[in-house]
Amino acid sequence: METLLQALVGILGLQAAWVSSQVLLQSPLSLSIQEGENLTINCNSSQSLYALHWYRQNYDGEFIFLMLFRKGGEEKSHEKLTAKLDAKMQQSSLSITAAQPSHSGTYFCGGEAQ
Ligand SMILES: *[C@@H]1O[C@H](CO)[C@@H](O)[C@H](O)[C@H]1NC(C)=O
Ligand SMILES: *[C@@H]1O[C@H](CO)[C@@H](O)[C@H](O)[C@H]1NC(C)=O
Repeated sequence: METLLQALVGILGLQAAWVSSQVLLQSPLSLSIQEGENLTINCNSSQSLYALHWYRQNYDGEFIFLMLFRKGGEEKSHEKLTAKLDAKMQQSSLSITAAQPSHSGTYFCGGEAQ
């Protein structure tokens, strides 16, 4: 796994990272938002997946597991995070409502391909 990290500015920094399992493309790679704003990050796969995970790495380095999808067409919520996976199991989005400083970190999606 490779990560691309960028410098952050702002009250709440959010970094999305590149997950190089060859198939996953995340966007945006880095963004900075204000506390209370909403945001969405995307993760696309070039092939159909049989599982997709979202994680956050906090600034202290700790990895937090957020969501796991094993079926397409689902939507799951966890605290103020909502993630979706499309029916073809190729596109996922993670949305944060009213972002808080505790949401800062690097977000990763990970996929398991068939
Ligand atoms: C993911 O797919 C959607 C729909 O095809 C597209 O709008 C979006 O730009 C893609 N994102 C990336 C990072 O490729
Ligand atoms: C964020 O999303 C919530 C729920 O969809 C909405 O009520 C709120 O107005 C949005 N906030 C902003 C700043 O767009």
